[in-house]
Amino acid sequence: MSDHYAYQDVLPLLSPYQREFVSIEYGRGEKSYQDRLRFIGLSGQGRVLDAGGGIGNWAIALAHNNREVEVVDLSSERMLVGKMLSERLNVNNIAFRYGNIESLPFPEASFDAVICYSVFMFADGNKAAAEFYRVLRPGGRLYIMVDLWRWQLAPFIPPSRWGRGLAWFGKRWLLRALGRNVTALYTRNSFEILIRSKGFKIVSSGQDGFATFNTKITESAGKFRFYPTDETGKEKLWEVCATKPNVMDS
Ligand SMILES: C[S@@+](CC[C@H](N)C(=O)[O-])C[C@H]1O[C@@H](n2cnc3c(N)ncnc32)[C@H](O)[C@@H]1O
Repeated sequence: MSDHYAYQDVLPLLSPYQREFVSIEYGRGEKSYQDRLRFIGLSGQGRVLDAGGGIGNWAIALAHNNREVEVVDLSSERMLVGKMLSERLNVNNIAFRYGNIESLPFPEASFDAVICYSVFMFADGNKAAAEFYRVLRPGGRLYIMVDLWRWQLAPFIPPSRWGRGLAWFGKRWLLRALGRNVTALYTRNSFEILIRSKGFKIVSSGQDGFATFNTKITESAGKFRFYPTDETGKEKLWEVCATKPNVMDS
């Protein structure tokens, strides 16, 4: 396993927007992703789906610790970066495939685990969560991190309670004004209710860097987080670790 993603020479090939994204995400280095995946409990799995996996930053780290990884994304440009880098690193157990997480191009029960990091709010959550349930085998693991409304509306949220209330009230209008391609705004509760409504059992949940399948883990939660909390301590990002119950469990 390498500590560094050798991505610099890919940058000139990209648009300024993608260049910035790639620099931030790969700039963390592979070890950050490895530590994070170990904390979450997404290693030693068989077949893993990285839903909305983009440039493969999670996928390459996953591929080093799981049997095989499939990336699905709507951006061919991003996946091309992932393909180039995985080839360069001789990572041969990742496939990149154009596809929508609302309608996954895989048969049912074909994955042991699904990861979906910072993508869910761009899609129809009802469809995507139902698809994750369909493609996971019974007992399979789902890890999702979603940007909550507080993150999406951040540029407009004033510090006062009244300001927050107004931002929530005018959220659709604000999103349009921002030009953000967000389909849904979630609170942590509405997000968890949606995940449960598809049949998943939530094992743990928390702010970015807190949820884990390893209920006996001794490392402190949040140690490997990627983003700081809101100045108020309120959640901006929310993640869940959930399982598709075995038939015997229900
Ligand atoms: C913020 S990026 C996150 C990428 C990656 N998961 C990560 O953590 O770096 C969002 C990604 O979701 C992809 N995306 C958005 N909507 C999607 C959908 N409905 N189906 C598949 N991919 C989608 C975008 O193309 C983009 O690569």
